[in-house]
Amino acid sequence: MSKFRVLLIDDDEDDLVHIRDLLGDIRSSSYEVSWEPTYEAGLTALQEMSFDVCLLDYQLGEKTGLDLLSEAKNRAFYFPIIFLTGLGDFELDLKAMQKGASDYLVKDQLTSPLLERSIRYSIKQAHDFEELKQTKAQMLQKDRLASLGLLASSLAHEIGTPMGIIRSRAERAGKKAIGNEDLQKDMEVVVTQIDRITKLVNSLLHLARGGKSDFTTSVSLDQVIQDILNLLEHEFGRKDIEFKKEIAPECKIKAEPGPLGQVFINLLINAVHAIEEARSNGRTRNHQVTLKVIEFEDHVQVAIADTGAGISEENQRQLFKPFFTTKEFGQGSGLGLATSLKIVNSWGGNISVTSQLGIGSTFTLNLPK
Ligand SMILES: Nc1ncnc2c1ncn2[C@@H]1O[C@H](COP(=O)(O)OP(=O)(O)OP(=O)(O)O)[C@@H](O)[C@H]1O
Ligand SMILES: [Mg+2]
Repeated sequence: MSKFRVLLIDDDEDDLVHIRDLLGDIRSSSYEVSWEPTYEAGLTALQEMSFDVCLLDYQLGEKTGLDLLSEAKNRAFYFPIIFLTGLGDFELDLKAMQKGASDYLVKDQLTSPLLERSIRYSIKQAHDFEELKQTKAQMLQKDRLASLGLLASSLAHEIGTPMGIIRSRAERAGKKAIGNEDLQKDMEVVVTQIDRITKLVNSLLHLARGGKSDFTTSVSLDQVIQDILNLLEHEFGRKDIEFKKEIAPECKIKAEPGPLGQVFINLLINAVHAIEEARSNGRTRNHQVTLKVIEFEDHVQVAIADTGAGISEENQRQLFKPFFTTKEFGQGSGLGLATSLKIVNSWGGNISVTSQLGIGSTFTLNLPK
């Protein structure tokens, strides 16, 4: 027999008794009802997301169930909510629907079968919606990776030739400048910087190319990590973040180099953002990110630790859900960790997190060899 957790937000205790009775008469499922009589308590309970469905009354003291629906929508959590009211009012029904209610029921017309059916359909509808959202998220991320690949290869192509020319001319000019040490030094700097750009472009290309493979291959972890570091080194320096690494040399895992690189980028960029957040909270100094690789018999563990803002326990539970983000609109899409986990799972690995608010976080990857 299925068991459902029902949250009733209603200021009238008589309604609670009535609804408990109706639900108690249903034979096909059992229901555990929690009751919140006020707007505020209701909103808090809703946010905990530990219910299967919510029955929401129209009258809630000063405010109404419609206000609560709007607030829930603003905070972008989707949840099956069935709207209850004392009056059959078409306008109200429409408004509730527009604000995201899954169904609208008139209290004095309620029967056990009607309630059972409405609950069952609402839960199914929410479940379908969640699935659709996840599929859309995956498609978006695929698109993102594909366009990164395209961009990288055309960039590498377009930049490669002029870079080669500039480099060789600079070398030639340096050789000709015998007796002019200043000019020779300048030319050396030009060559070094060109090499840096070339390395960066190659890293980008490396990442993008690897993404196309459908099968895992034996991947050199050092190589992928080094490519990523070449890309991000500058970012760490610019943000005054010390980067430390302990790598097990010659370590190979079964993965795909492109997506693996993407996973590291996601985790490292998140670490940089978390450190920036810690700074804006007043912890301004001595920030670092460490990457540590430990080799085991059948798998490799990579731990990426930061001294950033940390993650609350509540958020730790949500981190890997697609679209979960605490970043401002436009700053984060909330797909980084969801996709990273998907990728790592597809090789039989996993990602876990430990974190302390105000101290930092560690993301640990277990990658099969
Ligand atoms: N190292 C970290 N320290 C603190 N919070 C983190 C860390 N990594 C992730 N988070 C939290 O997890 C949320 C989700 O991360 P995720 O990478 O999935 O998405 P995002 O960074 O918000 O957006 P994007 O899709 O651009 O990566 C972040 O918004 C942040 O709140
Ligand atoms: Mg991210």
